[in-house]
Amino acid sequence: MSRYRVGLIGGDGIGPAVVAEALKVVDAAGVELDTVEYDLGADRYLRTGEILPDPVLAELGDLDAILLGAVGPPLGSRAVPPGALERGLLLRLRFELDLYVNLRPFTSGAGSLFPALDFAVVRENTEGVYAGEGGCLRRGMPGEVATQGSVNTRFGVERCVRYAFELASCRSRQHLTLVHKTNVLTFAGDLWQRTFDAVGAEYPGVETAYQHVDAACIHLVESPNRYDVIVTDNLFGDILTDLAGAVTGGIGLAASANLNPARTGPSLFEPVHGAAHDIVGSGRANPLAAIRSAALMLDHLGETEAAARVTKAVIEWAAEPSATARQQDPVTTLSTAEIGDAIAERV
Ligand code: NAI
Ligand code: MG
Repeated sequence: MSRYRVGLIGGDGIGPAVVAEALKVVDAAGVELDTVEYDLGADRYLRTGEILPDPVLAELGDLDAILLGAVGPPLGSRAVPPGALERGLLLRLRFELDLYVNLRPFTSGAGSLFPALDFAVVRENTEGVYAGEGGCLRRGMPGEVATQGSVNTRFGVERCVRYAFELASCRSRQHLTLVHKTNVLTFAGDLWQRTFDAVGAEYPGVETAYQHVDAACIHLVESPNRYDVIVTDNLFGDILTDLAGAVTGGIGLAASANLNPARTGPSLFEPVHGAAHDIVGSGRANPLAAIRSAALMLDHLGETEAAARVTKAVIEWAAEPSATARQQDPVTTLSTAEIGDAIAERV
């Protein structure tokens, strides 16, 4: 028996294939896992009508960590009601397991548009407009009304901001940028800004900055090297991290950790990309994002040295001109398993 019990949710589309490569690399890094597979996602829903049965949620809550590939039906499929999997599975796991920090590291290697980028986005993961506050009146009628409120609690904002300061204080640049829209979202913005200032007073070594989210989009594209750690709310974080992923080497590299930093339960690790049904079975799914997500998992489990080896192998391999050329050339493109093998060999 290994020390770690890890739940695997391969999910749909390319999810199971990229999770398999992540496990291959963890094994090569010398970390033994006891894995338990969970059949969840669009396929399960279409077969049984179930999304996340309560007993499954209870079992997941007892694990040390969860590794997820991706869930979702092919784009345009109407078989799964919109939002059913997002709300019923992904968001429910975040809320029920209290995964209140979504951490997304961005690092780029030599061959990319901005070489040597190294920053992280800390996104609040349980509140904001994703909390599901709101409702509708007169649905489908001419006078239809829909509201979707943003929930911001001092408790929720403070624990997220504190995590971000803690993270920034452990990095060499020790710089933290709050991103919000305090000039328009004055109620929520005020709470975020005051909380940020109050927690910041406890971290005199961390230099701070503030940017409106629209300006941050410009800076992320024009001069992303200005950032060290960014902290922001749920919706802004969702959008900013897709943009950051595009700037730092594409969706194939972007990894994420849904963390319960209080460690009252497991944390969940997943690539940022989705089920990519358009390339299922072609062997063209890039497993690097899933492999990096597994490295974040190792780090959280305390296997910091193995985690660092895996991350380094991914970043260095992806930055090699030969790797970039192979990934872009449809004739010589490496398969999902070949990329997994290449990383496994390096760790
Ligand atoms: P997607 O990320 O699955 O695909 C977008 C584009 O990127 C596609 O052209 C795809 O081929 C490509 N792509 C994605 N991952 C790739 C990889 N590892 N290697 C190579 N190419 C890759 O997003 P899309 O198409 O919007 O969603 C497809 C399904 O996935 C939907 O059902 C959606 O709801 C779900 N989804 C699930 C997520 C999750 O489980 N966290 C996140 C995003 C989408
Ligand atoms: Mg997103």
